[in-house]
Amino acid sequence: MKTARLFWLTPALALALAGCKKDSGAPVGQNDDVPVTCQSCHQAVYEEWQQSMHAMAHHSKDALYASFREVRIGKEGLQIATACAGCHSPRGVDAPDGPAAMTGVACAACHQLDAVRADAKGAKALVRAAPGTFRGPHDTPKESGPHQGGPALPAIADGKSLCLACHSELKTPNGTPLCSTGMEAAAGEDATCVSCHMPEVEGPSGNLTQRTTHRSHRFVGPRGTWEAPEAFGKFMDTAVDLKVKVLDPGTVEVTVANTSQHAFPSGFPGRLAWISVDALDEAGTVTATLAKAMLDKQYVDAEGKPALPPYSASLKADNRIQGGQQKVLTVALKGDPAKVRAQVGLRLMPPPLAKMMKMEGSVLATPRVVKEVVVEVGAKE
Ligand code: HEC
Ligand code: HEC
Ligand code: HEC
Ligand code: HEC
Ligand code: HEC
Repeated sequence: MKTARLFWLTPALALALAGCKKDSGAPVGQNDDVPVTCQSCHQAVYEEWQQSMHAMAHHSKDALYASFREVRIGKEGLQIATACAGCHSPRGVDAPDGPAAMTGVACAACHQLDAVRADAKGAKALVRAAPGTFRGPHDTPKESGPHQGGPALPAIADGKSLCLACHSELKTPNGTPLCSTGMEAAAGEDATCVSCHMPEVEGPSGNLTQRTTHRSHRFVGPRGTWEAPEAFGKFMDTAVDLKVKVLDPGTVEVTVANTSQHAFPSGFPGRLAWISVDALDEAGTVTATLAKAMLDKQYVDAEGKPALPPYSASLKADNRIQGGQQKVLTVALKGDPAKVRAQVGLRLMPPPLAKMMKMEGSVLATPRVVKEVVVEVGAKE
């Protein structure tokens, strides 16, 4: 008890204690679900993780998830929250507001593992190791600092299997796919999830390792960088290639190539992207919209009318750009514009959903431009 309290007050001192007293109070084993416990030895990883959406995955920390969770509880009753918790707070499924749940998808969810089952999802797929045991991508000594280690865990080392426990596919009770990032990515086997979402960065992961680089635990993605334009732009720059070619008889060809491994957009079915092509005058003012294409999934009810994805009867159309594919628009230049602007944009949720969740006007409901290209066409001939 005393050791545990000391650990909280002065991590450095506790570190020393843990290091010399092998059979001490095993503070790590008691606080496995409190990521700050790991900070003193795995500093860089801890700081990155704190900025990730995995750290925000509990309903008390993510306004978008919280609102949608409320909508579903309103329609289906409180028991649906347990299903959500399986992936959003897998360490606290039975105590949705307890400390283990509050940390969202934290260190222990991904590292206190003996195996990852491919035939289950979320918490059920994550086969827990004994308290105080953590496995990673490397072979580590049985006694690693204050906790137990072990051989590299294949599901972590392959850069994919662990992710698929939660990101593979989620369906409605009638079998309509909701999120299907993992399924989309399965088509292109060459890159792992980790290669793009956990890029290798300079510097050791913490102060007790010999390695000089590590893979970032920032788990970068559009959602987590939405409110940070710089970080958003930098990551989203890798999402699509946008090219505009002026063709001869008053037309332009706009090509949007998806350079990620899965669909663009991916994940939460509410994500909505589009390509728009506008005519501009000399001063750069938009004079007309020449074309607009939606990159979305259209869910319908039994009568074929638009429906909220979880309550839909089927997926009528999937207009997204699949991994490695491209979409080409050939657009007539009506009105002889001076310039043409092509944009690729993204919304986290479509306007009707924002309205339903009372999130209209919030930053999260505001569209963002992912890419933009402007070409001169005035001096055509
Ligand atoms: C969503 C799952 C996930 C979460 C959450 C997570 N990790 Fe990791 N972690 C991984 C994966 C995957 C790797 C392997 C990356 C690679 O291939 O090198 C890894 C690697 C590591 C490593 C090895 C670093 C090195 O030097 O190469 C350490 C240490 C680690 N994690 C600690 C932590 C700690 C501490 C936390 C919480 C603050 C945490 N992880 C949260 C998935 C996760
Ligand atoms: C007092 C220091 C200390 C604390 C606190 C600590 N660890 Fe470690 N951990 C280590 C050492 C030492 C290693 C072995 C590092 C190596 O070989 O590079 C290690 C290795 C690991 C690995 C294996 C990484 C790999 O390279 O495969 C994981 C995962 C891990 N720790 C997770 C955690 C988590 C989660 C916590 C918090 C609950 C935590 N550790 C707290 C010292 C610590
Ligand atoms: C070649 C790089 C690449 C690979 C491989 C890759 N992704 Fe992505 N991922 C991206 C890019 C770029 C985006 C942003 C564009 C988008 O939303 O489609 C993204 C978006 C996402 C999103 C959407 C996040 C949101 O908030 O809308 C999720 C979830 C995701 N990826 C998970 C995965 C998983 C899981 C894997 C492995 C099965 C994977 N990704 C493989 C590059 C990649
Ligand atoms: C225990 C379930 C679980 C595991 C395992 C897991 N994730 Fe996630 N991940 C989530 C949840 C839940 C969210 C959405 C959180 C939110 O937005 O509230 C998420 C979000 C993301 C995002 C979107 C970030 C953004 O800012 O748009 C990316 C990228 C991502 N995860 C990558 C990974 C990768 C790579 C792995 C494997 C190393 C992984 N995840 C493992 C549950 C998981
Ligand atoms: C099988 C695992 C799984 C289950 C179960 C699950 N989710 Fe998710 N959820 C995810 C993952 C993975 C993401 C990240 C994908 C992305 O960012 O696009 C996510 C993202 C979301 C988002 C978008 C969050 C954001 O910040 O943009 C919402 C909203 C959401 N989930 C709601 C729910 C609700 C409500 C439930 C319960 C009815 C639920 N989810 C059940 C895995 C799951």
